[in-house]
Amino acid sequence: MYQAKAYSVASATSPFASDTIARRDPNENDVKIEILFCGVCHSDLHYSRNEWSAVMPATYPCVPGHEIVGRVVKVGAAVTKFKAGDLAGVGCLVDSDRTCSACQAGLEQFCPGQVLTYGFPDKHLGGVTYGGYSESIVVDERFVVGIPSNLNLAAAAPLLCAGITTYSPMRHWGVGAGKKVGVVGLGGLGHMGVKFAHALGAHTVVFTTSANKAEDALRLGADEVVLSRDAAQMQKHTGSFDFLLDTVSADHDINAYIQLLARDGNMTLVGAPEKPLSFSSFGLIVGRRSISGSPIGGLAETQEMLDFCGEHNFASDVEVIAMQQIDEAYARLLKADVKYRFSIDMASLKG
Ligand SMILES: NC(=O)c1ccc[n+]([C@@H]2O[C@H](COP(=O)([O-])OP(=O)(O)OC[C@H]3O[C@@H](n4cnc5c(N)ncnc54)[C@H](OP(=O)(O)O)[C@@H]3O)[C@@H](O)[C@H]2O)c1
Ligand SMILES: [Zn+2]
Ligand SMILES: [Zn+2]
Repeated sequence: MYQAKAYSVASATSPFASDTIARRDPNENDVKIEILFCGVCHSDLHYSRNEWSAVMPATYPCVPGHEIVGRVVKVGAAVTKFKAGDLAGVGCLVDSDRTCSACQAGLEQFCPGQVLTYGFPDKHLGGVTYGGYSESIVVDERFVVGIPSNLNLAAAAPLLCAGITTYSPMRHWGVGAGKKVGVVGLGGLGHMGVKFAHALGAHTVVFTTSANKAEDALRLGADEVVLSRDAAQMQKHTGSFDFLLDTVSADHDINAYIQLLARDGNMTLVGAPEKPLSFSSFGLIVGRRSISGSPIGGLAETQEMLDFCGEHNFASDVEVIAMQQIDEAYARLLKADVKYRFSIDMASLKG
């Protein structure tokens, strides 16, 4: 066991503070990673402020962060995929039971025995797992992915959650050429959704509440932008979408979007607002439309997504911040004021 510098919150209402956490020394299948960048996901905010208390109550102290990229500094004797010096990434999962049908299918995101990167029981050290707002992390190699060498590291970090969470449902629902696809909310997840929908060849439409993001939406790959608070603009798209990806982090009216789905169209919710959403059954009935959800993605698909980004040479659009700016970053997330992901430069933790 060793001590690592980290940033934690002590309660749902505390600001972040410098802290020291215990990490295990690498076991034979483990990879020790010096964290270089960690993305700031809105889930970090929901969780650390205990907004998900009904389904996933928070444990304190809490060290969030599940968009981790860094350099391998040490590996256990049985590790085969990584060696010291390699670039590596860790997302939302650090372990699973490895035996259930989901794990066998490479769908660890559905494993009932999954261990999330923070706030889950740590079977090695007791207590709970601590995330990437930290100088290093030790993870079984099975839950570590490779980072394509052509990607900027600060920009690659958000792929580990925002990337896979948008890529996975788009692949599942057949997003591609000839499909009309909408992305609702242009934040961390949303802007990655736009990049993927565009790269997969779909006609891509962005729905935003922020007029000042319209130009960026087009630059990111959108074919059209709709200001979602303008009913007339919304109306023009009635009954036309094959697929909608809703990434909104706060309460909003999803009925307005259900109306936009074509016959048999699907809207997948990846946004996880604190309060339940409500919708009218009729919106679904009339067009045999469906609503579904989707959590992150499995390890194999996460690597596939990273390789896809490497081949197409894109990652996230990031604002790089110091660890010490994290409270300010959360305040800006709540105002939908980030272009389009904060990525923490972990060198700031050493200062
Ligand atoms: N399913 C999963 O596995 C998974 C994984 C990661 C994150 N999440 C969840 O996905 C959500 C988005 O995460 P994120 O990191 O992308 O957050 P984010 O960067 O804060 O983006 C959320 C976007 O939602 C829009 N928005 C915010 N408040 C709104 C409101 N009141 N009405 C309408 N639109 C609003 C804004 O876009 P505009 O300015 O364009 O309107 C904002 O940029 C969070 O709830 C997060 O917990 C889920
Ligand atoms: Zn996340
Ligand atoms: Zn399993």
